Amino acid sequence: MSTLPQAEPYRIKVVEPLKITTQSEREKIIRAAKYNIFNIPAEDVYIDLLTDSGTSAMSQYQWAGLMTGDESYAGCRNWFHLEETIKDITGFKYVVPTHQGRPAENILTLIHVRSGLSALSNMFFDTTHANVENKGGIAHNLVIEAGLDSKADHPFKGNLDISKLEEFIEHEGRQQVSLILVTVTCNNNGGQPVSIENLRQVREVADKYKLPFYLDAARFAENAYFIKQREPGYQDKSLRKIAREMFSLADGCTMSSKKDGLVNIGGFLALNDEREFRQAQNYLIQMEGFITYGGMAGRDLEALSIGLNEVLDENYMASRVRQVHYLGGRLIEAGVPVMEPLGGHCVMLDMKRFLPDIPQEKFPSEAFCARLYVDSGTRAIGLGQLAFGSEDPHTGQVEYSPLEVVRLTVPRRVYTDNHMDVVAESVKRMYAERDRIKGMRLRWSAEMLRHFTAQLEPL
Ligand code: F0G
Repeated sequence: MSTLPQAEPYRIKVVEPLKITTQSEREKIIRAAKYNIFNIPAEDVYIDLLTDSGTSAMSQYQWAGLMTGDESYAGCRNWFHLEETIKDITGFKYVVPTHQGRPAENILTLIHVRSGLSALSNMFFDTTHANVENKGGIAHNLVIEAGLDSKADHPFKGNLDISKLEEFIEHEGRQQVSLILVTVTCNNNGGQPVSIENLRQVREVADKYKLPFYLDAARFAENAYFIKQREPGYQDKSLRKIAREMFSLADGCTMSSKKDGLVNIGGFLALNDEREFRQAQNYLIQMEGFITYGGMAGRDLEALSIGLNEVLDENYMASRVRQVHYLGGRLIEAGVPVMEPLGGHCVMLDMKRFLPDIPQEKFPSEAFCARLYVDSGTRAIGLGQLAFGSEDPHTGQVEYSPLEVVRLTVPRRVYTDNHMDVVAESVKRMYAERDRIKGMRLRWSAEMLRHFTAQLEPL
């Protein structure tokens, strides 16, 4: 008997109608947005693949959970539920709730990062990078070489390069390093997973040099799924068990719950050290709110407790990753250059191979995103030179971003495969007509995290 196709383990109860615009309307919209997709009003986007962050559809249990929100300032019942859930999943002793991931990063880096000292990661997400650097720290990305090569075949392209890590610490000296933070899955190179074996090796280095080792756990459940699929010995373990093993190797984690928390807002810091926990609570009260809500409403704490359990459901996760791989598979089949193997939350288009004639300082990713939006109303995000590189207007010197990619980020439980088909056809058309895409010029940009607000124009 042939196997049946896999479908979603849920059905649709509420729908959110989408506005359909014409190409000529979208031409005007992108021009008014100064060719920056962040400036497009979301209502004018048909399929929004800007991010998987805070864009998940909640389940009926989460929506029902909102109604049980206890909005007391201190000690609301939803906090106790959330605290218990997080301790149960991670095994960490202490939990500090925050309203999203970056305040958790801010608190962690306030505790650990010192001016002039280095912080080491496979790849820091951009806000984490900024949180290290705004404390005067220096952020270094030490992902394995294969992680930066979209064609290299490796099951765990998010792994931190252990020999580079040891060499760095030996060469610079233990006293020059403040923190190790491993991002699971590794967002910047396409949701690439990190193996348990690699986390274990990082633990050994952290122990050897007595360095704090944290996880950026925004996509911890997707990482656990890849471990189950790809790492020998994990095929028969539950995602919950694998996640617990990942967390057991670290001293704590930061979490943007807007991803694998399956909620629209939320985050936390979890850790084992009591002294650091007290420090974190102090910062929390100054910056976010009281220690039992930390910037979230009681109802949001409840939706998060429920989401953290739903994300570990194997049927959910299989269908989630299957959809991302369906989109990626359609592009690979058509010869479109993408980051392979496919990752957890997105498909990354490799612009160095897609638009090889447009140099990075002419922002090929942003040029592509603008054309894709006009073509099909799809919003994707460029993660290359504009986000991670720089050009000195006086000397003309260019600091190149190692990757030049466009991320097609798939929200959780939101779109159907028909939407994925529209995106795939539109990207394929862009690829067939790639000679028509020209570079961009920067009209204005901010000093830090410039891609969010930059203004561009076509050359
Ligand atoms: N860490 C990772 C790995 C992330 O991907 C993000 C956010 C954060 C931390 C920060 O969390 O947004 O809740 O403050 N990533 C989003 C993205 C914005 O589009 O990849 P936050």
